[in-house]
Amino acid sequence: MNSGDVSTRRLIDSFGRVHNNLRISVTDRCNIRCFYCMPADNVEFMPKENLLSFEEIERVVRIGTTLGIDRVRLTGGEPLVRRDLHVLVRKLAAIPGIIDIGLTTNGILLEEQAQDLRDAGLKRLNISLDALDPEIFRKVTRREGYDRVLAGIQAARDVGFSPIKLNAVSVRGLTEDQIIPFGKLARETDTVVRFIEFMPLDADSQWQRDKVLFAHEIMGRLEAEFGALRAIDSPVSALVHAGTTASLLTQADAATHAPAQDYEFADGKGRVGLIASVSQPFCSSCNRFRLTADGRLRNCLFSHDETDIKEFLRSDSADELIAEAMLNSIAAKKEGHEINTARFVQPDRPMYSIGG
Ligand code: 5AD
Ligand code: SF4
Repeated sequence: MNSGDVSTRRLIDSFGRVHNNLRISVTDRCNIRCFYCMPADNVEFMPKENLLSFEEIERVVRIGTTLGIDRVRLTGGEPLVRRDLHVLVRKLAAIPGIIDIGLTTNGILLEEQAQDLRDAGLKRLNISLDALDPEIFRKVTRREGYDRVLAGIQAARDVGFSPIKLNAVSVRGLTEDQIIPFGKLARETDTVVRFIEFMPLDADSQWQRDKVLFAHEIMGRLEAEFGALRAIDSPVSALVHAGTTASLLTQADAATHAPAQDYEFADGKGRVGLIASVSQPFCSSCNRFRLTADGRLRNCLFSHDETDIKEFLRSDSADELIAEAMLNSIAAKKEGHEINTARFVQPDRPMYSIGG
């Protein structure tokens, strides 16, 4: 092999998208049962021996950095149910070339772990909370735990994560009346609330388009209550916005690849984000690559193919073989999801088993 290849190869797909962001699922287990992600009961989890070890994950990330990966995010299932997750964070933070480590958690175990995670080098934290009303929280998650999430959010603040980002999946008929309370929270505290459109990744295939609470509707409700929202970090959107909710017709910020389009309230008090995954797909600026807890590469949340690299990791395979598997997976990435077409077929793996 020409050693010059290694540093110049990049995870670029056939549409020119450069992938620098690896989302790593560390477990498919979870301590709650959000209906848009998991079945209510009798979940079949991956056998423990199929889960990649921290050392195996570390190796994949190290190889990934030679191909341009510089950001990782740990997901689940619920990542904090994986014992000693901070040990993995520390290992990944020590890899040269990794500049950013994030975690998406439901917050239930955060109070106990926030300090260790922060000390280990975790930079960003997103906490999933779909409702500020405990009853609606219970309806969504089908479990107890609301108070622990609030305690987890407070602990995250106390150890210095800032701003706190909350992910709120928005579902018609269920979470509409949470929008204004979340808006208030965003205005009154150092919290960015990101509203996410419900995507067809649930285990029970209950998703229907008419259950998606669209980003433009959420925005309309926020503006009716609090006044105009101004797009930030995206000059193009800001221009198009100019006083109308038509701003949601613009793409998410292409420069940062962030799926959330962030807005601030006109009086400068507070920020919200809208993730219009269904109504305004941001596939054209996608920079994300995924590793499942059982060692499969996925080039898209919605893909039907994946590449099993677990056996490579568990045999004497050279790094090069794993690098090639990564390059090939990205090379085969499709243009985007087809949720808005009649061709759409929901992937076999629900969200908890892919990693959000
Ligand atoms: N649609 C939208 N968002 C989802 N999440 C999980 N399942 C879905 C879905 N079907 C979100 C979680 C979490 C992140 C990992 O993905 O709420 O914030
Ligand atoms: Fe658990 Fe996250 Fe799925 Fe909710 S979305 S069931 S918190 S893995």
